[in-house]
This record gives sequence, structure tokens and C-alpha cells, in this order.
Amino acid sequence: MTGSVITVAQQKGGSGKTTLSANLAIGFLAQGKSVALVDIDPQGSLGRWFMTRLERDPGALGTLEFATSSAWGGDV
Ligand SMILES: Nc1ncnc2c1ncn2[C@@H]1O[C@H](COP(=O)(O)OP(=O)(O)OP(=O)(O)O)[C@@H](O)[C@H]1O
Ligand SMILES: [Mg+2]
Repeated sequence: MTGSVITVAQQKGGSGKTTLSANLAIGFLAQGKSVALVDIDPQGSLGRWFMTRLERDPGALGTLEFATSSAWGGDV
């Protein structure tokens, strides 16, 4: 089985990177795909989204995996 890596990157702040990433993840999950999100933005917005959603509706996240860059040793 092959996988894909999708990078959402844009220098401009507030351009929708975090929103797009969260929606792509949920969309692919809804298609039955295995999804892992890695947030390399030190701002941590995607992590806050993940934790909030986990608290409010854990079932909705299914098998979604989440990590920050520090989980694999990188400092950004
Ligand atoms: N497609 C869209 N249409 C309208 N508003 C959007 C869309 N995508 C994101 N937004 C809104 O734009 C704002 C910035 O979005 P978001 O936080 O995803 O951007 P970002 O690029 O991750 O920002 P940052 O550079 O601060 O990390 C938020 O208020 C979000 O709700
Ligand atoms: Mg962001």
C-alpha cells in the first residue's frame, strides 16, 4: 500500500493553512483513509484544534494521528 505526503505551506500568515489542513484530514478520514497530521508550526494551532476536537467529540477523529515536529526531534 502506498501513501502520500501533502505539505500545506505558505509564507503569508492567516492564509488558511491550518484550516485547510484540518479539513483535508477530516475529509480523507471520511473517505476511510488512514491520516496522520504533523504540525511543524511552533504556533501550534493545529494541535489546539486537535485537542479541542478530541475533548468535545473523540469519536469524530476516528483513527486520526497527530504529532508535532518536536515528536520527531526537529526544532523549527
Ligand atoms: N477558505 C476559507 N474561507 C474563508 N475563511 C477562511 C478560509 N480558510 C481559513 N479561513 C479563516 O481565515 C483565518 C486564518 O486561517 P488559518 O488560521 O487557517 O490560517 P493560517 O495560514 O494557518 O494562519 P497562521 O499563519 O496564523 O498559522 C481564520 O479565521 C479562518 O477561519
Ligand atoms: Mg496556522
